[in-house]
Amino acid sequence: DTQRTWGGRFGTKPDELMTRINASIGFDKRLWREDIAASKAHAAMLRDQGVLSEADAAAILEGLDQVASEYERDGVPERVELEDIHMTVENRLGELIGPAAGRLHTARSRNDQVATDFRLWVRNACDEAVDAIRGLQRALVERAEEHAEAAMPGFTHLQVAQPVTLGHHLMAYFEMLRRDVSRLADARARMNESPLGAAALAGTGFPIDRHATADALGFERPTANSLDSVSDRDFALDYLSAAAQCSLHLSRLAEELIIWASAPFGFVKLSDQFSTGSSIMPQKRNPDAAELVRGHSGRIIGAFTSLMVTMKGLPLAYSKDMQDDKEPVFEACDLLMLSLQALAGMVETVEFVPERIRAAAAQGFSTATDLADWLVREADVPFREAHHITGSAVKSAEERGCDLADLSLDILQQIDGRIDQRVFDVLSVDASVRSRTSYGGTAPVRVREQIAAAKEELGL
Ligand code: ARG
Repeated sequence: DTQRTWGGRFGTKPDELMTRINASIGFDKRLWREDIAASKAHAAMLRDQGVLSEADAAAILEGLDQVASEYERDGVPERVELEDIHMTVENRLGELIGPAAGRLHTARSRNDQVATDFRLWVRNACDEAVDAIRGLQRALVERAEEHAEAAMPGFTHLQVAQPVTLGHHLMAYFEMLRRDVSRLADARARMNESPLGAAALAGTGFPIDRHATADALGFERPTANSLDSVSDRDFALDYLSAAAQCSLHLSRLAEELIIWASAPFGFVKLSDQFSTGSSIMPQKRNPDAAELVRGHSGRIIGAFTSLMVTMKGLPLAYSKDMQDDKEPVFEACDLLMLSLQALAGMVETVEFVPERIRAAAAQGFSTATDLADWLVREADVPFREAHHITGSAVKSAEERGCDLADLSLDILQQIDGRIDQRVFDVLSVDASVRSRTSYGGTAPVRVREQIAAAKEELGL
């Protein structure tokens, strides 16, 4: 099959199955913009270095622009015998400009070409993820500001622990997402080196200028080692790792919305726009979008694992296994973007039920720690002893079926004589929340500071 780009030394055509297993055009056509951009940078550099004539370079550059406008208009044609996006573009260029197209591949291999295209694509995916995360952060900050003072139960072990505010709880997710942004920025900075010019694996004897192509494509610098340049997929793994962690955060928020929307909790009502009904039970309002965000995170983590496993046993330099790097990244990116946007929509439109949330905050002896702290502060009781005394008070309230704040002073004084009337100032949920003024704590003054800093960071 001498028709194939590499067909010169082959006698018979590849088996139909060989063609099918080899082809990546079905998915790597998503790289077409990056492929054309990298080819243009390469061609211009070859011209400037005197490797390509002015005329050939001009024909190639114009031809590539035409290919780009065709793909923009009609999409990328999928011909499996052309294998991948690189051959597809080059083939079309040949149809448009003739034999000069064959000069584009001078001092280049598909190995450095795909490494370059994919880096450009993943770099852009980092930027888009950051934008979408910012959108979700904005939604969280706005809702947190609305509910900066609203008491809610803080949980550990999903048991009521201490009262916090809803604003504080929402801002916890803002922080997680802040770290996700920083991980993506980190990954982006690390991957921003150009593999173009590494050629197949050894570099090239042509007088190329790798700094010029790096510059033209917005990379900081060329990669330092040609073997590493075509073998490395760390950049994709860095992205997937950041995406996996981000999706894990989204999954935890989705999980909380699901719990909060359940009837026994009743903390929130999901908006009509982000819930679905049941085909049999007319009363149902299901949190499908939140469940899918939770589910998608499993697939994103799977994508990360998948590429880790693909890469872990490969000898240097390129092996075709590496063609399997793209689908996990594309899938993770699509799922992450959709999850971020859907969750932002849910957060923007969810209706909180502050009375229910507040009532739950008072249950479960949530101010027990406040009683213990009061004994330490006002009666100079060692904390461990105060813990014990408070335990007796909780037991007593439990026996009477009431909250701590409902115990009479008499009963409290029977438990410990050092307790006096002032203790009732700290046993209410609001007093408890207001007292947590340590840096980063849940007191509304502190939460408002966190919100102000967040708004500044988001440019709000
Ligand atoms: N489609 C290939 C990939 O995605 C391009 C690189 C092909 N290189 C090679 N030596 N066969 O990995």
